[in-house]
Amino acid sequence: MATYVQTVDIGHFATADEREALTREALTREVRRGLITRPRSLSPWMFYDAEGSRLFERITALPEYYPTRTERAILAGYADAIIAAAHGDRSSPLRLVELGAGTASKTCILLEAASRISDDVAYVPVDVCPDALELACQNVACALPEVRIRPIVRNYVTHPLQLEPFDGTTLALYIGTSIGNFSPEEARLILRNLGTQLRIGDALLLGTDMVKDEPTLLAAYDDREGITAAFNLNILDRLNRELGADFDPACFRHRALWNSVESRIEMHLESVQEQGISIEHADLDLHFTQGETIHTENSYKFTDRSIRTLLRDVGFEIRGAWKDCRGWYTLTLARVG
Ligand SMILES: C[S@@+](CC[C@H](N)C(=O)[O-])C[C@H]1O[C@@H](n2cnc3c(N)ncnc32)[C@H](O)[C@@H]1O
Repeated sequence: MATYVQTVDIGHFATADEREALTREALTREVRRGLITRPRSLSPWMFYDAEGSRLFERITALPEYYPTRTERAILAGYADAIIAAAHGDRSSPLRLVELGAGTASKTCILLEAASRISDDVAYVPVDVCPDALELACQNVACALPEVRIRPIVRNYVTHPLQLEPFDGTTLALYIGTSIGNFSPEEARLILRNLGTQLRIGDALLLGTDMVKDEPTLLAAYDDREGITAAFNLNILDRLNRELGADFDPACFRHRALWNSVESRIEMHLESVQEQGISIEHADLDLHFTQGETIHTENSYKFTDRSIRTLLRDVGFEIRGAWKDCRGWYTLTLARVG
């Protein structure tokens, strides 16, 4: 099987060694930023090493985790309409650029629709996790051999995206409710950075999870099988492996809560006892009291109004929106004005 991620020009993260060094540097910076100050926090991109991506894939198949299957159903129903709204000039080439592509498990639905109306389709999956990206490339190459694939291993938070010029229409995909991991200010910054890489007439497809009843939301982030807990705790294993930390994951527990004021699910790791932790490569010695937490993830939930406000603030014009029948999830297509 072809190995995509190591054989293409991946810009900033040119080789596996360079990637490793940059990742370790970013992890070190992040633990110094997030674990010294209180309340303690870590950035959600840190979840996604090979094991974290594997666990995320398992989450997407859980009965409680409705976002993936809901988004997939919307794509299955409306992919042709979405592509038509994004790509007015059918004679020109079409490029789909996906931020946080993961394994691209749903993207083939859109790429198939794109291939139905254009015989020149390129796909640029962008992800911080090379293992997930490799699978994404294999999935797409297998299903759609005619699509040109140009993967980019990159952390779009620490290293904003820089796209090659493209003679055609670009449709940026930011699906999988990834925008929800960021505060409104951070989300605006990410979308503005993305906007600088797009031209007038290019488009963005944004996937957002909507506000709904609290039990449904909480169950999606605290499943009965404990896969989300394992995903959350894996961040500690990652720090042990990559930064020489000595966390005992058994001494922390997964907590999920709904913050109605901020309209977000929060995930935390709670220290079950008083304990000392050292992180060798970051030169850190930390002390945790019993019950002290590390805030590891936010997942903001949207309303039609908050989607409109976000996109208007960053200069995109909404051209269409598609929902499931319960209104649990929205895919919004917006054009660069
Ligand atoms: C919630 S998953 C969504 C995956 C996929 N888009 C989906 O819909 O199932 C988030 C993905 O974004 C990637 N990711 C998270 N933060 C990132 C960052 N700062 N830069 C690049 N990729 C990131 C993760 O590795 C992961 O594959």
